[in-house]
Order: sequence, then structure tokens, then C-alpha cells
Amino acid sequence: MRDLNRKFNQDNGHQLDLIPESTNGDFVSAYHNDDEELIDPFCVEDNPHKITFEDITSAAFKIKCGIVNTPCVQSRLSDATGIDLYLKKDFLQRTGSFKERGARYALLMLSEEQKQAGVISASLGNHALALCYHGYKLGIPVTVVMPVLAPIMKIAACRQYGANVIVDGPDMGEAKRIALRHGKEKGLTYINGYDHPDIMAGQGTLGLEIVEQVPNIDAVVVPIGGGGLIAGVALAVKTLHPNVTIIGVESERCPSFYMARKTNRPTRATIDSTLADGLAVPMVGYNAFATANSLIDKLVVVKEEWIAIAILKLVENEKCIVEGAGATGLAAILAGQLDELKGKRVVLPLCGGNIDTTILGRCLERGLAAEGRLLKFTVTVSDRPGGIAELCRMLASIGVSIKDIMHERAWIMSDIFSVDVKVVCETRDREHATQLKNMLHQNYQRVVFGTSDNSTSHHLNV
Ligand SMILES: Cc1ncc(COP(=O)(O)O)c(C=O)c1O
Repeated sequence: MRDLNRKFNQDNGHQLDLIPESTNGDFVSAYHNDDEELIDPFCVEDNPHKITFEDITSAAFKIKCGIVNTPCVQSRLSDATGIDLYLKKDFLQRTGSFKERGARYALLMLSEEQKQAGVISASLGNHALALCYHGYKLGIPVTVVMPVLAPIMKIAACRQYGANVIVDGPDMGEAKRIALRHGKEKGLTYINGYDHPDIMAGQGTLGLEIVEQVPNIDAVVVPIGGGGLIAGVALAVKTLHPNVTIIGVESERCPSFYMARKTNRPTRATIDSTLADGLAVPMVGYNAFATANSLIDKLVVVKEEWIAIAILKLVENEKCIVEGAGATGLAAILAGQLDELKGKRVVLPLCGGNIDTTILGRCLERGLAAEGRLLKFTVTVSDRPGGIAELCRMLASIGVSIKDIMHERAWIMSDIFSVDVKVVCETRDREHATQLKNMLHQNYQRVVFGTSDNSTSHHLNV
């Protein structure tokens, strides 16, 4: 451990000892019970490592050849949101996320000995993919431990790059323990996907590109998982333009940075499954928190339905397929949580596009439902010949399109000559939906709308 620590400091030119030593030379016990010795020497609570702006510029220079300098272009959503929005399309990286920046830099910074032995990490997806791809490109053996709930597509993609993929552990916490143990046994360097200093420095290159690409930025809105991305981006942007506002966004289902701010240290938050699976990290990194906390001007926590709507808006308006984590910045804007940005120039990193097709389909439907464009209702109509046909004619007369229709006789309590008709239909927009509702209420006595149209928003004119 002492050697690893020294190696890290030598390789990176850092002055800090990452493993704290007590005055008598014994290691301070940062280790506990079963996890004794299973600690990541690069991420130590008692001695967090803040990266510097020079780390980021060094990363930018080193990874230049292996990373796409992705476009950052004005968004078509600018008019509708009243914000001069720019989208940094980092989902266009080869493996679909910004994680390649940090992964490539961390791999390039290994000593020759470490490169030969190889690296290991635990990840649910994007970091694993990035590490496997760049390990393959650079000829460095990579092992990733992916929890059993990791998407099958991502597991298969990692194997495609010739990586050793171990699918084990019910969640990320256990996968990480397995990876640390395996790494220790095999002499592999563990690379934390958000808290390793080189990872954060690599992610910071996204911030450098943004300020090169867009002049006079007022704010950057950055999604937060373990905090590596916001740490790097905030440091890069604030160093060059201290007046730019940095806003962090989390899903309400994994508010780990919010928890850390509340307790003033990385603290485990309770997390639930979320559309923003890339952000589902229960505790932000020690180094990430130390680097980012003072640079973040505002933190917002967004609701799931807004993430679904943001995914839908990006598909419809920008023709961009973005995963939940990458869409949280736009979600916060659409939800009206960042109205102070109206009239300002704001950059949103669209930092990942790895969304399963089935999940994408569900997001689009949820987005439509939350916007009132997909409606579900039950109406009681006459069971005499022509009753249902009359309903269908009525819907067609105002251009409402039926997606599903089903009728039910046996369980209705009212008159025997009535039938309950359940309809799922599409409308053009909220106004059109209101027209439909008024028409149904005028023509039928009993109309019940499903929960899906009790939505969300008056902000949504996009
Ligand atoms: C697409 C996407 N966006 C944002 C993040 C958050 O990055 P970080 O964990 O460095 O905070 C992740 C993390 O995996 C991600 O995959």
C-alpha cells in the first residue's frame, strides 16, 4: 500500500501522501473489519485530494488524440425556454459518454509497470465502457466488475473490447468491494470512475472545450453522480471565467451531493431506481466533493417525470438520443427550477446517450403522458348499436388519434344498456387535450381521466 501511494505521488507529481500516516509511522486506521486493506488509495476520506487547473490542462493535452472534440451548438429549445441554450453533445463520444475523457487520461498516466499489469474498476456502464474501449486502444488489460443489474447491452459491449468482464454483486457497493479484492489479489490498479484524481482532471477537459466553443457564458448546468464531472468542469470553467454560475443537478431518487452539502462531507444517501441510472451513486467521492463543493453556486434536485420529458424534448426538437443522466440539466429548466436563467446564455452538457431502446420507448411515452399529449380515460357510453362508433367519430372529428380502445360490460354497476370504454389516445398539445376533455364532458355523463394526464406543467410550451 505504501508503495502504491508513493507510486501515485511520483507519477502525478503530487506532494500529498494519500494514505495518512500517524506520527509514529503506523498507518492511521482508515480500514474497517472485512474491508481492511480493501481501500482505494486514491480516494481517502481523511485526506481528500483536490485537483488543480493544471491537472486539467495536462489532461487536455494528453487525451487530445483519442477523444472527440464534440460540438457545442445553440439549441432549438432556446426560444421555447427563454434561455440562450447551448448543448455540448458529448454523447457523440465513441462509447456514448464523456467518461472516455477521464478513462483515457487515467490510463495514460499509469506507470509502464501498472500498464502491463492492467487496471480494474466497478461500474454500472459508462465508465466501464470507456475504460474497456481505451484499454483496448492503448493495449492495457482491463477488468471491470459490473453488478448483476447492469444493462446486458453494456456488458456485451465491454466484452467486445476484449475486457475481462465480471458480472457479480447485487449493487455497486458490492461490485466495488469485489473489484478492490480482485485488484489486490492480481496486482491491478483500481480506477474509481468519478473520484480518481486523473478521472476528474480528464472530465474537466469538457469544461475547457465549452469555454473555447461558446463566448460569454452565464451558466453551465452539470449532472452529478459521484461528482467527478462537476468537479472537473467547475474547476476548468471557474478558473477561466470566475463569474460563470455553476449549477449541479441530481435526480430526486439519488440526491447524494445534496446529502453531502447538508452534512458538509460525503454521506451515504438512500437511492431508488431512476431514469438517470448514470447518476445512481449513493455517496459522492471524497476528492470530488473537496474539489467541487466550493465551486457549485446552486444545486437542484429534479423529479423523474421531468427527466422523461427532457428526453422526449431532446428527441423531438434536437434529434438527440440522450440517456436520463444526460437530460437532467434540461429537466431542471423545463421544470421551472432555473427560471433565473431566462435571458441568459447557458450550456448544458448532454453527457451520455447510452439508453436501452426499451427504456427510451417508455421514457417517450411517459414524457408524452406527463405533457398531456398521451391521455387515458374511461367513458360510459350507450351499449346500443353505434354507441362506440359515435365516440370514435367524435374523437376523429377533432383530430384525436386512438392508440388503444377496450370496452367492458360485466363489471359496470349502472344501467344495463351502458358500456365502459377505456381509451388511450394522442393529442397534439395541452390545448388540444382540453378541447377533447370539454367535448367528452359535454356529450357523456361519466368521464374519468387517468392519472397520466394530471401532469406536471404549465411551463411546457416547447
Ligand atoms: C451520462 C452521465 N452523466 C453524468 C454522470 C455523472 O458523472 P459523475 O459520476 O462524474 O458525477 C454520469 C456518471 O456515470 C453519466 O454516466
